[in-house]
Amino acid sequence: YVIGIDLGTSAVKALLVNKSGQVVAEAASNYPLYHDHSGWSEQDPEDWVRGTIAAIDEVVTSAKVASNEVAGISFSGQMHGLVLLDKEGVPLRRAILWNDTRTTAQCRYIEQVLGEKLIQIARNQALEGFTLPKILWVREHEPDVFAQANVFLLPKDYVRYRLTGQLHMDYSDAAGTLLLDVADKRWSETLLQSFQLPLSLCPPLVESHDHVGELLPAIAEQVQLDPTTNVFAGGADNACGAIGAGILHEGLTLSSIGTSGVILAYEADKTSDFAGKVHFFNHGMQDAYYAMGVTLAAGYSLSWFKEVFAPHETFDQLLGGIDTISPGSNGLLFTPYLVGERTPYADANIRASFIGMDGSHRRSHFVRAVMEGITYSLHESIDLLRNAGKQIDKVVSIGGGGQNKIWLQMQADIFNTPVVALENEQGPGLGAAMLAAVGAGWFSTLQDCAQQFVKYGATYAPEEQATQTYAELFAIYQQVYTQTKQINEQLVPFRA
Ligand code: XUL
Repeated sequence: YVIGIDLGTSAVKALLVNKSGQVVAEAASNYPLYHDHSGWSEQDPEDWVRGTIAAIDEVVTSAKVASNEVAGISFSGQMHGLVLLDKEGVPLRRAILWNDTRTTAQCRYIEQVLGEKLIQIARNQALEGFTLPKILWVREHEPDVFAQANVFLLPKDYVRYRLTGQLHMDYSDAAGTLLLDVADKRWSETLLQSFQLPLSLCPPLVESHDHVGELLPAIAEQVQLDPTTNVFAGGADNACGAIGAGILHEGLTLSSIGTSGVILAYEADKTSDFAGKVHFFNHGMQDAYYAMGVTLAAGYSLSWFKEVFAPHETFDQLLGGIDTISPGSNGLLFTPYLVGERTPYADANIRASFIGMDGSHRRSHFVRAVMEGITYSLHESIDLLRNAGKQIDKVVSIGGGGQNKIWLQMQADIFNTPVVALENEQGPGLGAAMLAAVGAGWFSTLQDCAQQFVKYGATYAPEEQATQTYAELFAIYQQVYTQTKQINEQLVPFRA
């Protein structure tokens, strides 16, 4: 067996996977988020460690695994979160997470100090969620804490450190810190020196499938495994989600509709230039990359609609009537900017709209319009990638979008590309298990592993008429942002 750990924002999940790629046991453990001030989002690293140990123990127990039967453990982790350790390796404060937005001033400062160097070296814009702005925030606001900081880690690196005693960070996660020279795969002296940060603050870099240690004896005992159990580095959750969906070839793109939505395109060429309009990160596959756009309120738009207008129904009931509505929802258009938007606008003030309501519209028109609006927003990222010369041959749909036939067809029509779903979707934990499988030598490459572990369902091909309708509507959809931007700015003071 191998074990894939997915260290998420609300829970950690463990998957026990056999050599055929089947998940034979899974377990999850939840932990709290702390929002002490508006915009703050923190977690206690100790909760991650406790939850991870409990989840490993549970899969080992429930599948009656012998202590020497696990060939490897690896990780997928929520990205960007800052864990600062002192000289003894003890966290100096709670972790500041990817969805914490306190660092706007630090982001503007980073842009001012670095200018064009930021995109040239770090290949990404300065966003509140990323790690460097958080480091600068702690230095500015908690100088006593910062003075004791010896090294920083990202969430799953801290858990791995506690399991093995070894400090490391893999390239796919390091790419989200804004301190990595993404193309050259090393900590950037230029970036560090620009902020007077010592290189010693950064842990040694490794590949995602690299062997980084064994379980510490005390941990091994708690999870009923041998202390010789091998641990492999693992990767960022988006990279691992891509691995688990087989996004390991040029032309393949992932569409993920969870609370937020992601369009992630495999990229072999490290010099590809998207001018910082999409994220550009190292993949969990050696020397590969990916470009990624984010819709902040994807599945969230639909769950918001359900909560407000159909709180007592199931999602199946809510989506029940949409097959009778034609593409375009009879002229009803929705933009999913409930919490602002990331790609392509990076605008925290924009808000959502329904445009074109008339008396003929029933609830199903609204539901379909919400799904179309979410998909148009994801298409903005696809459009941006295509305009930068990226070939998109096939989209693999995961999350809510992959579980509904109408949404799969809608994506094929709006993206104008064939769309497939996974047969038995497991999320980023499967990507982590695949990294362990390759690390343990079961397969020589992640592509070989994917042949065995990743299974696709039916292909949805774009239909000509719907594709044409959606292309016209997408052009109108894009105007809604520009035409409502000012109105939304004026509404800011009236928001709660
Ligand atoms: C990526 C990002 C999120 C987190 C969620 O830039 O902020 O997808 O990785 O865990």
